Amino acid sequence: MTTSTIRIDERTRVLVLTGAGISAESGIPTFRGADGLWENHPIEKVASMRGFVDDPILVWRFYSQRRADAKAVAPNAGHHALARLEERLGDRFLLATQNVDGLHTKAGNARVVEMHGTLWKTRCSRCDREPFDDEEVYLGDLPGCGACAKRGESALLRPHIVWFGERLDPRDLARIDAFVRASRGSRLVFLAVGTSGRVSPASELVVHARDAGAETWLVNLEPSDNQGAFEHVVHGASGAVLPSLFV
Ligand SMILES: NC(=O)c1ccc[n+]([C@@H]2O[C@H](COP(=O)([O-])OP(=O)(O)OC[C@H]3O[C@@H](n4cnc5c(N)ncnc54)[C@H](O)[C@@H]3O)[C@@H](O)[C@H]2O)c1
Ligand SMILES: [Zn+2]
Repeated sequence: MTTSTIRIDERTRVLVLTGAGISAESGIPTFRGADGLWENHPIEKVASMRGFVDDPILVWRFYSQRRADAKAVAPNAGHHALARLEERLGDRFLLATQNVDGLHTKAGNARVVEMHGTLWKTRCSRCDREPFDDEEVYLGDLPGCGACAKRGESALLRPHIVWFGERLDPRDLARIDAFVRASRGSRLVFLAVGTSGRVSPASELVVHARDAGAETWLVNLEPSDNQGAFEHVVHGASGAVLPSLFV
């Protein structure tokens, strides 16, 4: 536990980056907590276009299971602390998350950039129709794209998730960048929570924020790969640390 605090005043803007660690106390395993495996399949196999082409039923079973798991859990004290912080800061707050579980939104955060997509949307694997809300589980029959079918083409629907080897949506990165740039002349705080600092470009946000003059904080259970880039490091569980971090 820590007595560290981040002082918030009317000039403070806060950019938060979260990773799987913030959802661990809700019962969703981190990447490492799951041993990087699912039913003995390497995660890369169920979370890549190559894996989807090879075995779409397996990939949809994996995401159906993740939808069911995420639906069954609730946000924890760490998520709630960030929801309260957004209430306090309004437009001076932005939350970028690598999580796809939707727990930040469930906790009440609205200014959220889901950099790696979300479990709760589906899109077409071929056409560029907008991703749509979807809570279905697909265990046997594979979902096809109705829009493609109307043109006489056949295409599978896929989860709206950024898979290994895929690019992040440039609009998401632009939104984060715009927040950082709009912070010139104010005090910017960058806070990373529950992330191993291994997945780029999320792991580089700390450097981007620091270059823009941000004060940088990391709250993580274990040392992260990029923790040397942070000015302030708090080792602890986010559900225990975040509720008393902001004063
Ligand atoms: N909940 C989810 O949506 C979810 C779950 C697993 C993996 N993923 C994906 O896997 C990738 C892995 O990257 P990552 O950095 O997000 O996760 P990661 O699993 O690589 O790292 C999680 C980090 O959180 C820390 N941690 C664990 N419990 C914590 C707690 N209670 N409080 C604070 N820190 C805690 C660990 O020490 C670890 O460093 C991401 O791309 C992410 O999209 C998402
Ligand atoms: Zn389509």
